[in-house]
Amino acid sequence: MGLKGKDLLGIRELETDEIGLILDTAESLKEVSSRDIKKVPALRGKTVVNLFFEPSTRTRTSFELAAKRLSADLLNISIATSSVVKGETLFDTAKNLEAMMADIIVIRHSSSGAPDRLARRLKSSVINAGDGSHEHPTQALTDLYTIRERKGGLSGLIVTIVGDIAHSRVARSNIYALVKMGADVRVAGPPTMMPAGIDKLGVRVYHDLDEALSGADVVMMLRLQLERQGKALFPSIREYSRLYGLNSERLKFAKKDALVMHPGPVNRGVEITSDLADGVSSVIMDQVTNGIAVRMAVIYLLSAGRA
Ligand code: CP
Repeated sequence: MGLKGKDLLGIRELETDEIGLILDTAESLKEVSSRDIKKVPALRGKTVVNLFFEPSTRTRTSFELAAKRLSADLLNISIATSSVVKGETLFDTAKNLEAMMADIIVIRHSSSGAPDRLARRLKSSVINAGDGSHEHPTQALTDLYTIRERKGGLSGLIVTIVGDIAHSRVARSNIYALVKMGADVRVAGPPTMMPAGIDKLGVRVYHDLDEALSGADVVMMLRLQLERQGKALFPSIREYSRLYGLNSERLKFAKKDALVMHPGPVNRGVEITSDLADGVSSVIMDQVTNGIAVRMAVIYLLSAGRA
C-alpha cells in the first residue's frame, strides 16, 4: 500500500487515512535507526535527489539519511555550483535530473508553488521540502508523529501555535494536519502576523499569549520569518519577545505536562528562552530524530504507490 498521489506537495491534499498511514509506517521504520547497521534494503536501486534552493540543516540531512537508510542512492545538488548560476531554469534543472532516472526529487524553494509546478511536468515523484510561505508537509508530519508518540493520540488535544503565522509554511501545514486529525488548534501572535482568512481554517485566533496558552497540551513556537516579512511587522524584536516569547513563567498557563516544540532553527532568547528549549518539557530534539523516520516513510510510501 502506498500514497494515492505521485507526489507529496502539501498536507492540504492529503486524506486523513494517508496521514495515519505515514505515521504508522514511520513508527515501524523508526527502529531501523537504532540498529548497529542502520539500513534496510527496501529501496535498493531507487534514486532520490535533494534539490535545495534555500538553506537547510534538518530537512536536507534527514532526507539524505532517510534515503540512505532505505538503501536508495542519494544525490545532493549544490545550487551554488550547478548550472542554475548560469541561468538554467528550475524546470530544465529538474528535467535533466529526471533524464538521469531520478525516481524522487525533494525540492525546497523560496517560491510558493514551485514544487507543484514541477510535479505537473515531471514523471518523477516530487516531495515538497518547504516552498515559500506555503507548506512544509514533512515537518508537520514529523510534528504530528512526535505529539502522537508522547501523548498517545492527536484527537482532542489543545495545540497552541505561536508566532509569525502569516509567513510560516510550518504553521500552515501543521494547521491543516492537526485540524484533520481532530486537534483543537489555537494560533497566537500579533495581528500583523496573522494571514487573512486564518479563522476559516478551523483554528481559534488569539493575540494574548497567556490566554492562548491556557490549558494547552502542546505549545509550538515558530521562528520569526524575517527573510520573508519584507517589512517590519513589529516595533522591535525585544518587544516581540516580551509579548510573544515563551519562558518558564508563561508556560505555567499551559498544562503541567505540556510539550514544547519548535521546528528549528531556534532563535534562542527571541521566541523561546534557552532554559525552555533545553528543558524537560522540550521535545525539539525528538522532532529532529523523528524527522528521519517520517521522511523514510514518505519516500517508501511514494515508491510503493508508484510500484
Ligand atoms: N525545520 C526546518 O525546516 O529546518 P531546516 O530549515 O534546517 O531544514
